[in-house]
Amino acid sequence: MRGFHPALAAFAQLPLAERLFVHARLFSAPLEAMATRVKGNRVADIGCGHGVLVSLLAVGFPEREVWGVDPDARKIDWARRSIGTFPNVKLQAGTVEELAKEQPHRFDTLFVADVLYLLPPAQWPAFLAACRELLVPGGRLVIKEAENDGSWRAKKALLQEQVMVKVLRRTHGSGAIGFEPRETLKRALEETGFSVVESVSLSRGYTTPHVLFVAAA
Ligand SMILES: C[S@@+](CC[C@H](N)C(=O)[O-])C[C@H]1O[C@@H](n2cnc3c(N)ncnc32)[C@H](O)[C@@H]1O
Repeated sequence: MRGFHPALAAFAQLPLAERLFVHARLFSAPLEAMATRVKGNRVADIGCGHGVLVSLLAVGFPEREVWGVDPDARKIDWARRSIGTFPNVKLQAGTVEELAKEQPHRFDTLFVADVLYLLPPAQWPAFLAACRELLVPGGRLVIKEAENDGSWRAKKALLQEQVMVKVLRRTHGSGAIGFEPRETLKRALEETGFSVVESVSLSRGYTTPHVLFVAAA
C-alpha cells in the first residue's frame, strides 16, 4: 500500500474495517486522475459510496461545493461521519434520478466511478439521462468503469466484484454485475446526447482494466 494521503485524514475516526476499505479504494482505482478532470466549482459524485472521491474533490478546495449522493444509506452514513463534516460537502441518500428532479442543471462537473457495472444495461439510458439533466449546458461528465477487454485484469476484477456484492455484501447490486467493452460504454454516452471528448485506459499500475471517459453535456 502506498503512503498516507491527505484526503484520507477525513476518515480517521471510522472503524478499522471502513478505514481499510477507503484506503484500498483510493489505491486500487484512479480516483485522483478523475479528480484532476474537474471543471467549475459546483460538482457532484454520483454513487459516492463512502465518499473517497468527494474527499479528493473537497479537501483543500473550500471554494468548491461538492455533493455526494448514493442510495445505500449505510455508505452515506459512513460518509456523513467523515467527509460530511466538511462545510463545502453535502451528502444525500438517494439515486441520481431523484437528485436530477430536485437539482436540474446545478452542476458544472459530475463524477461517476464504478456504478454502471452494477446496473443492467437497460437501465443505463435513464441513469445517464439523469446525469445529463443535472449538468449545466456544456457541463462535464467524468465517468470511470472497468472495461471488458478480454484480459486477465477483466476476469480478476469481475470475480472481485462478485465477491464484494454477493459474498461480502459490501456493495448493493441489482443482480446484474458485468463489464462491457469500451465501445459499448462510449455508444451509451453518445446515445444519451453526450459528446465524448476523452476516452483513455487507466489500467497501467492497477490490476483492474480501468477506463475513463470525459464527456460534454
Ligand atoms: C462500486 S460502488 C462505487 C462507490 C464509489 N463511486 C467509489 O468509487 O468508491 C457503486 C455505488 O453506486 C451506487 N448506486 C447504484 N445505483 C445508483 C443510482 N441509481 N444512483 C446513484 N448511485 C447508485 C451504489 O449504491 C454503490 O454505492
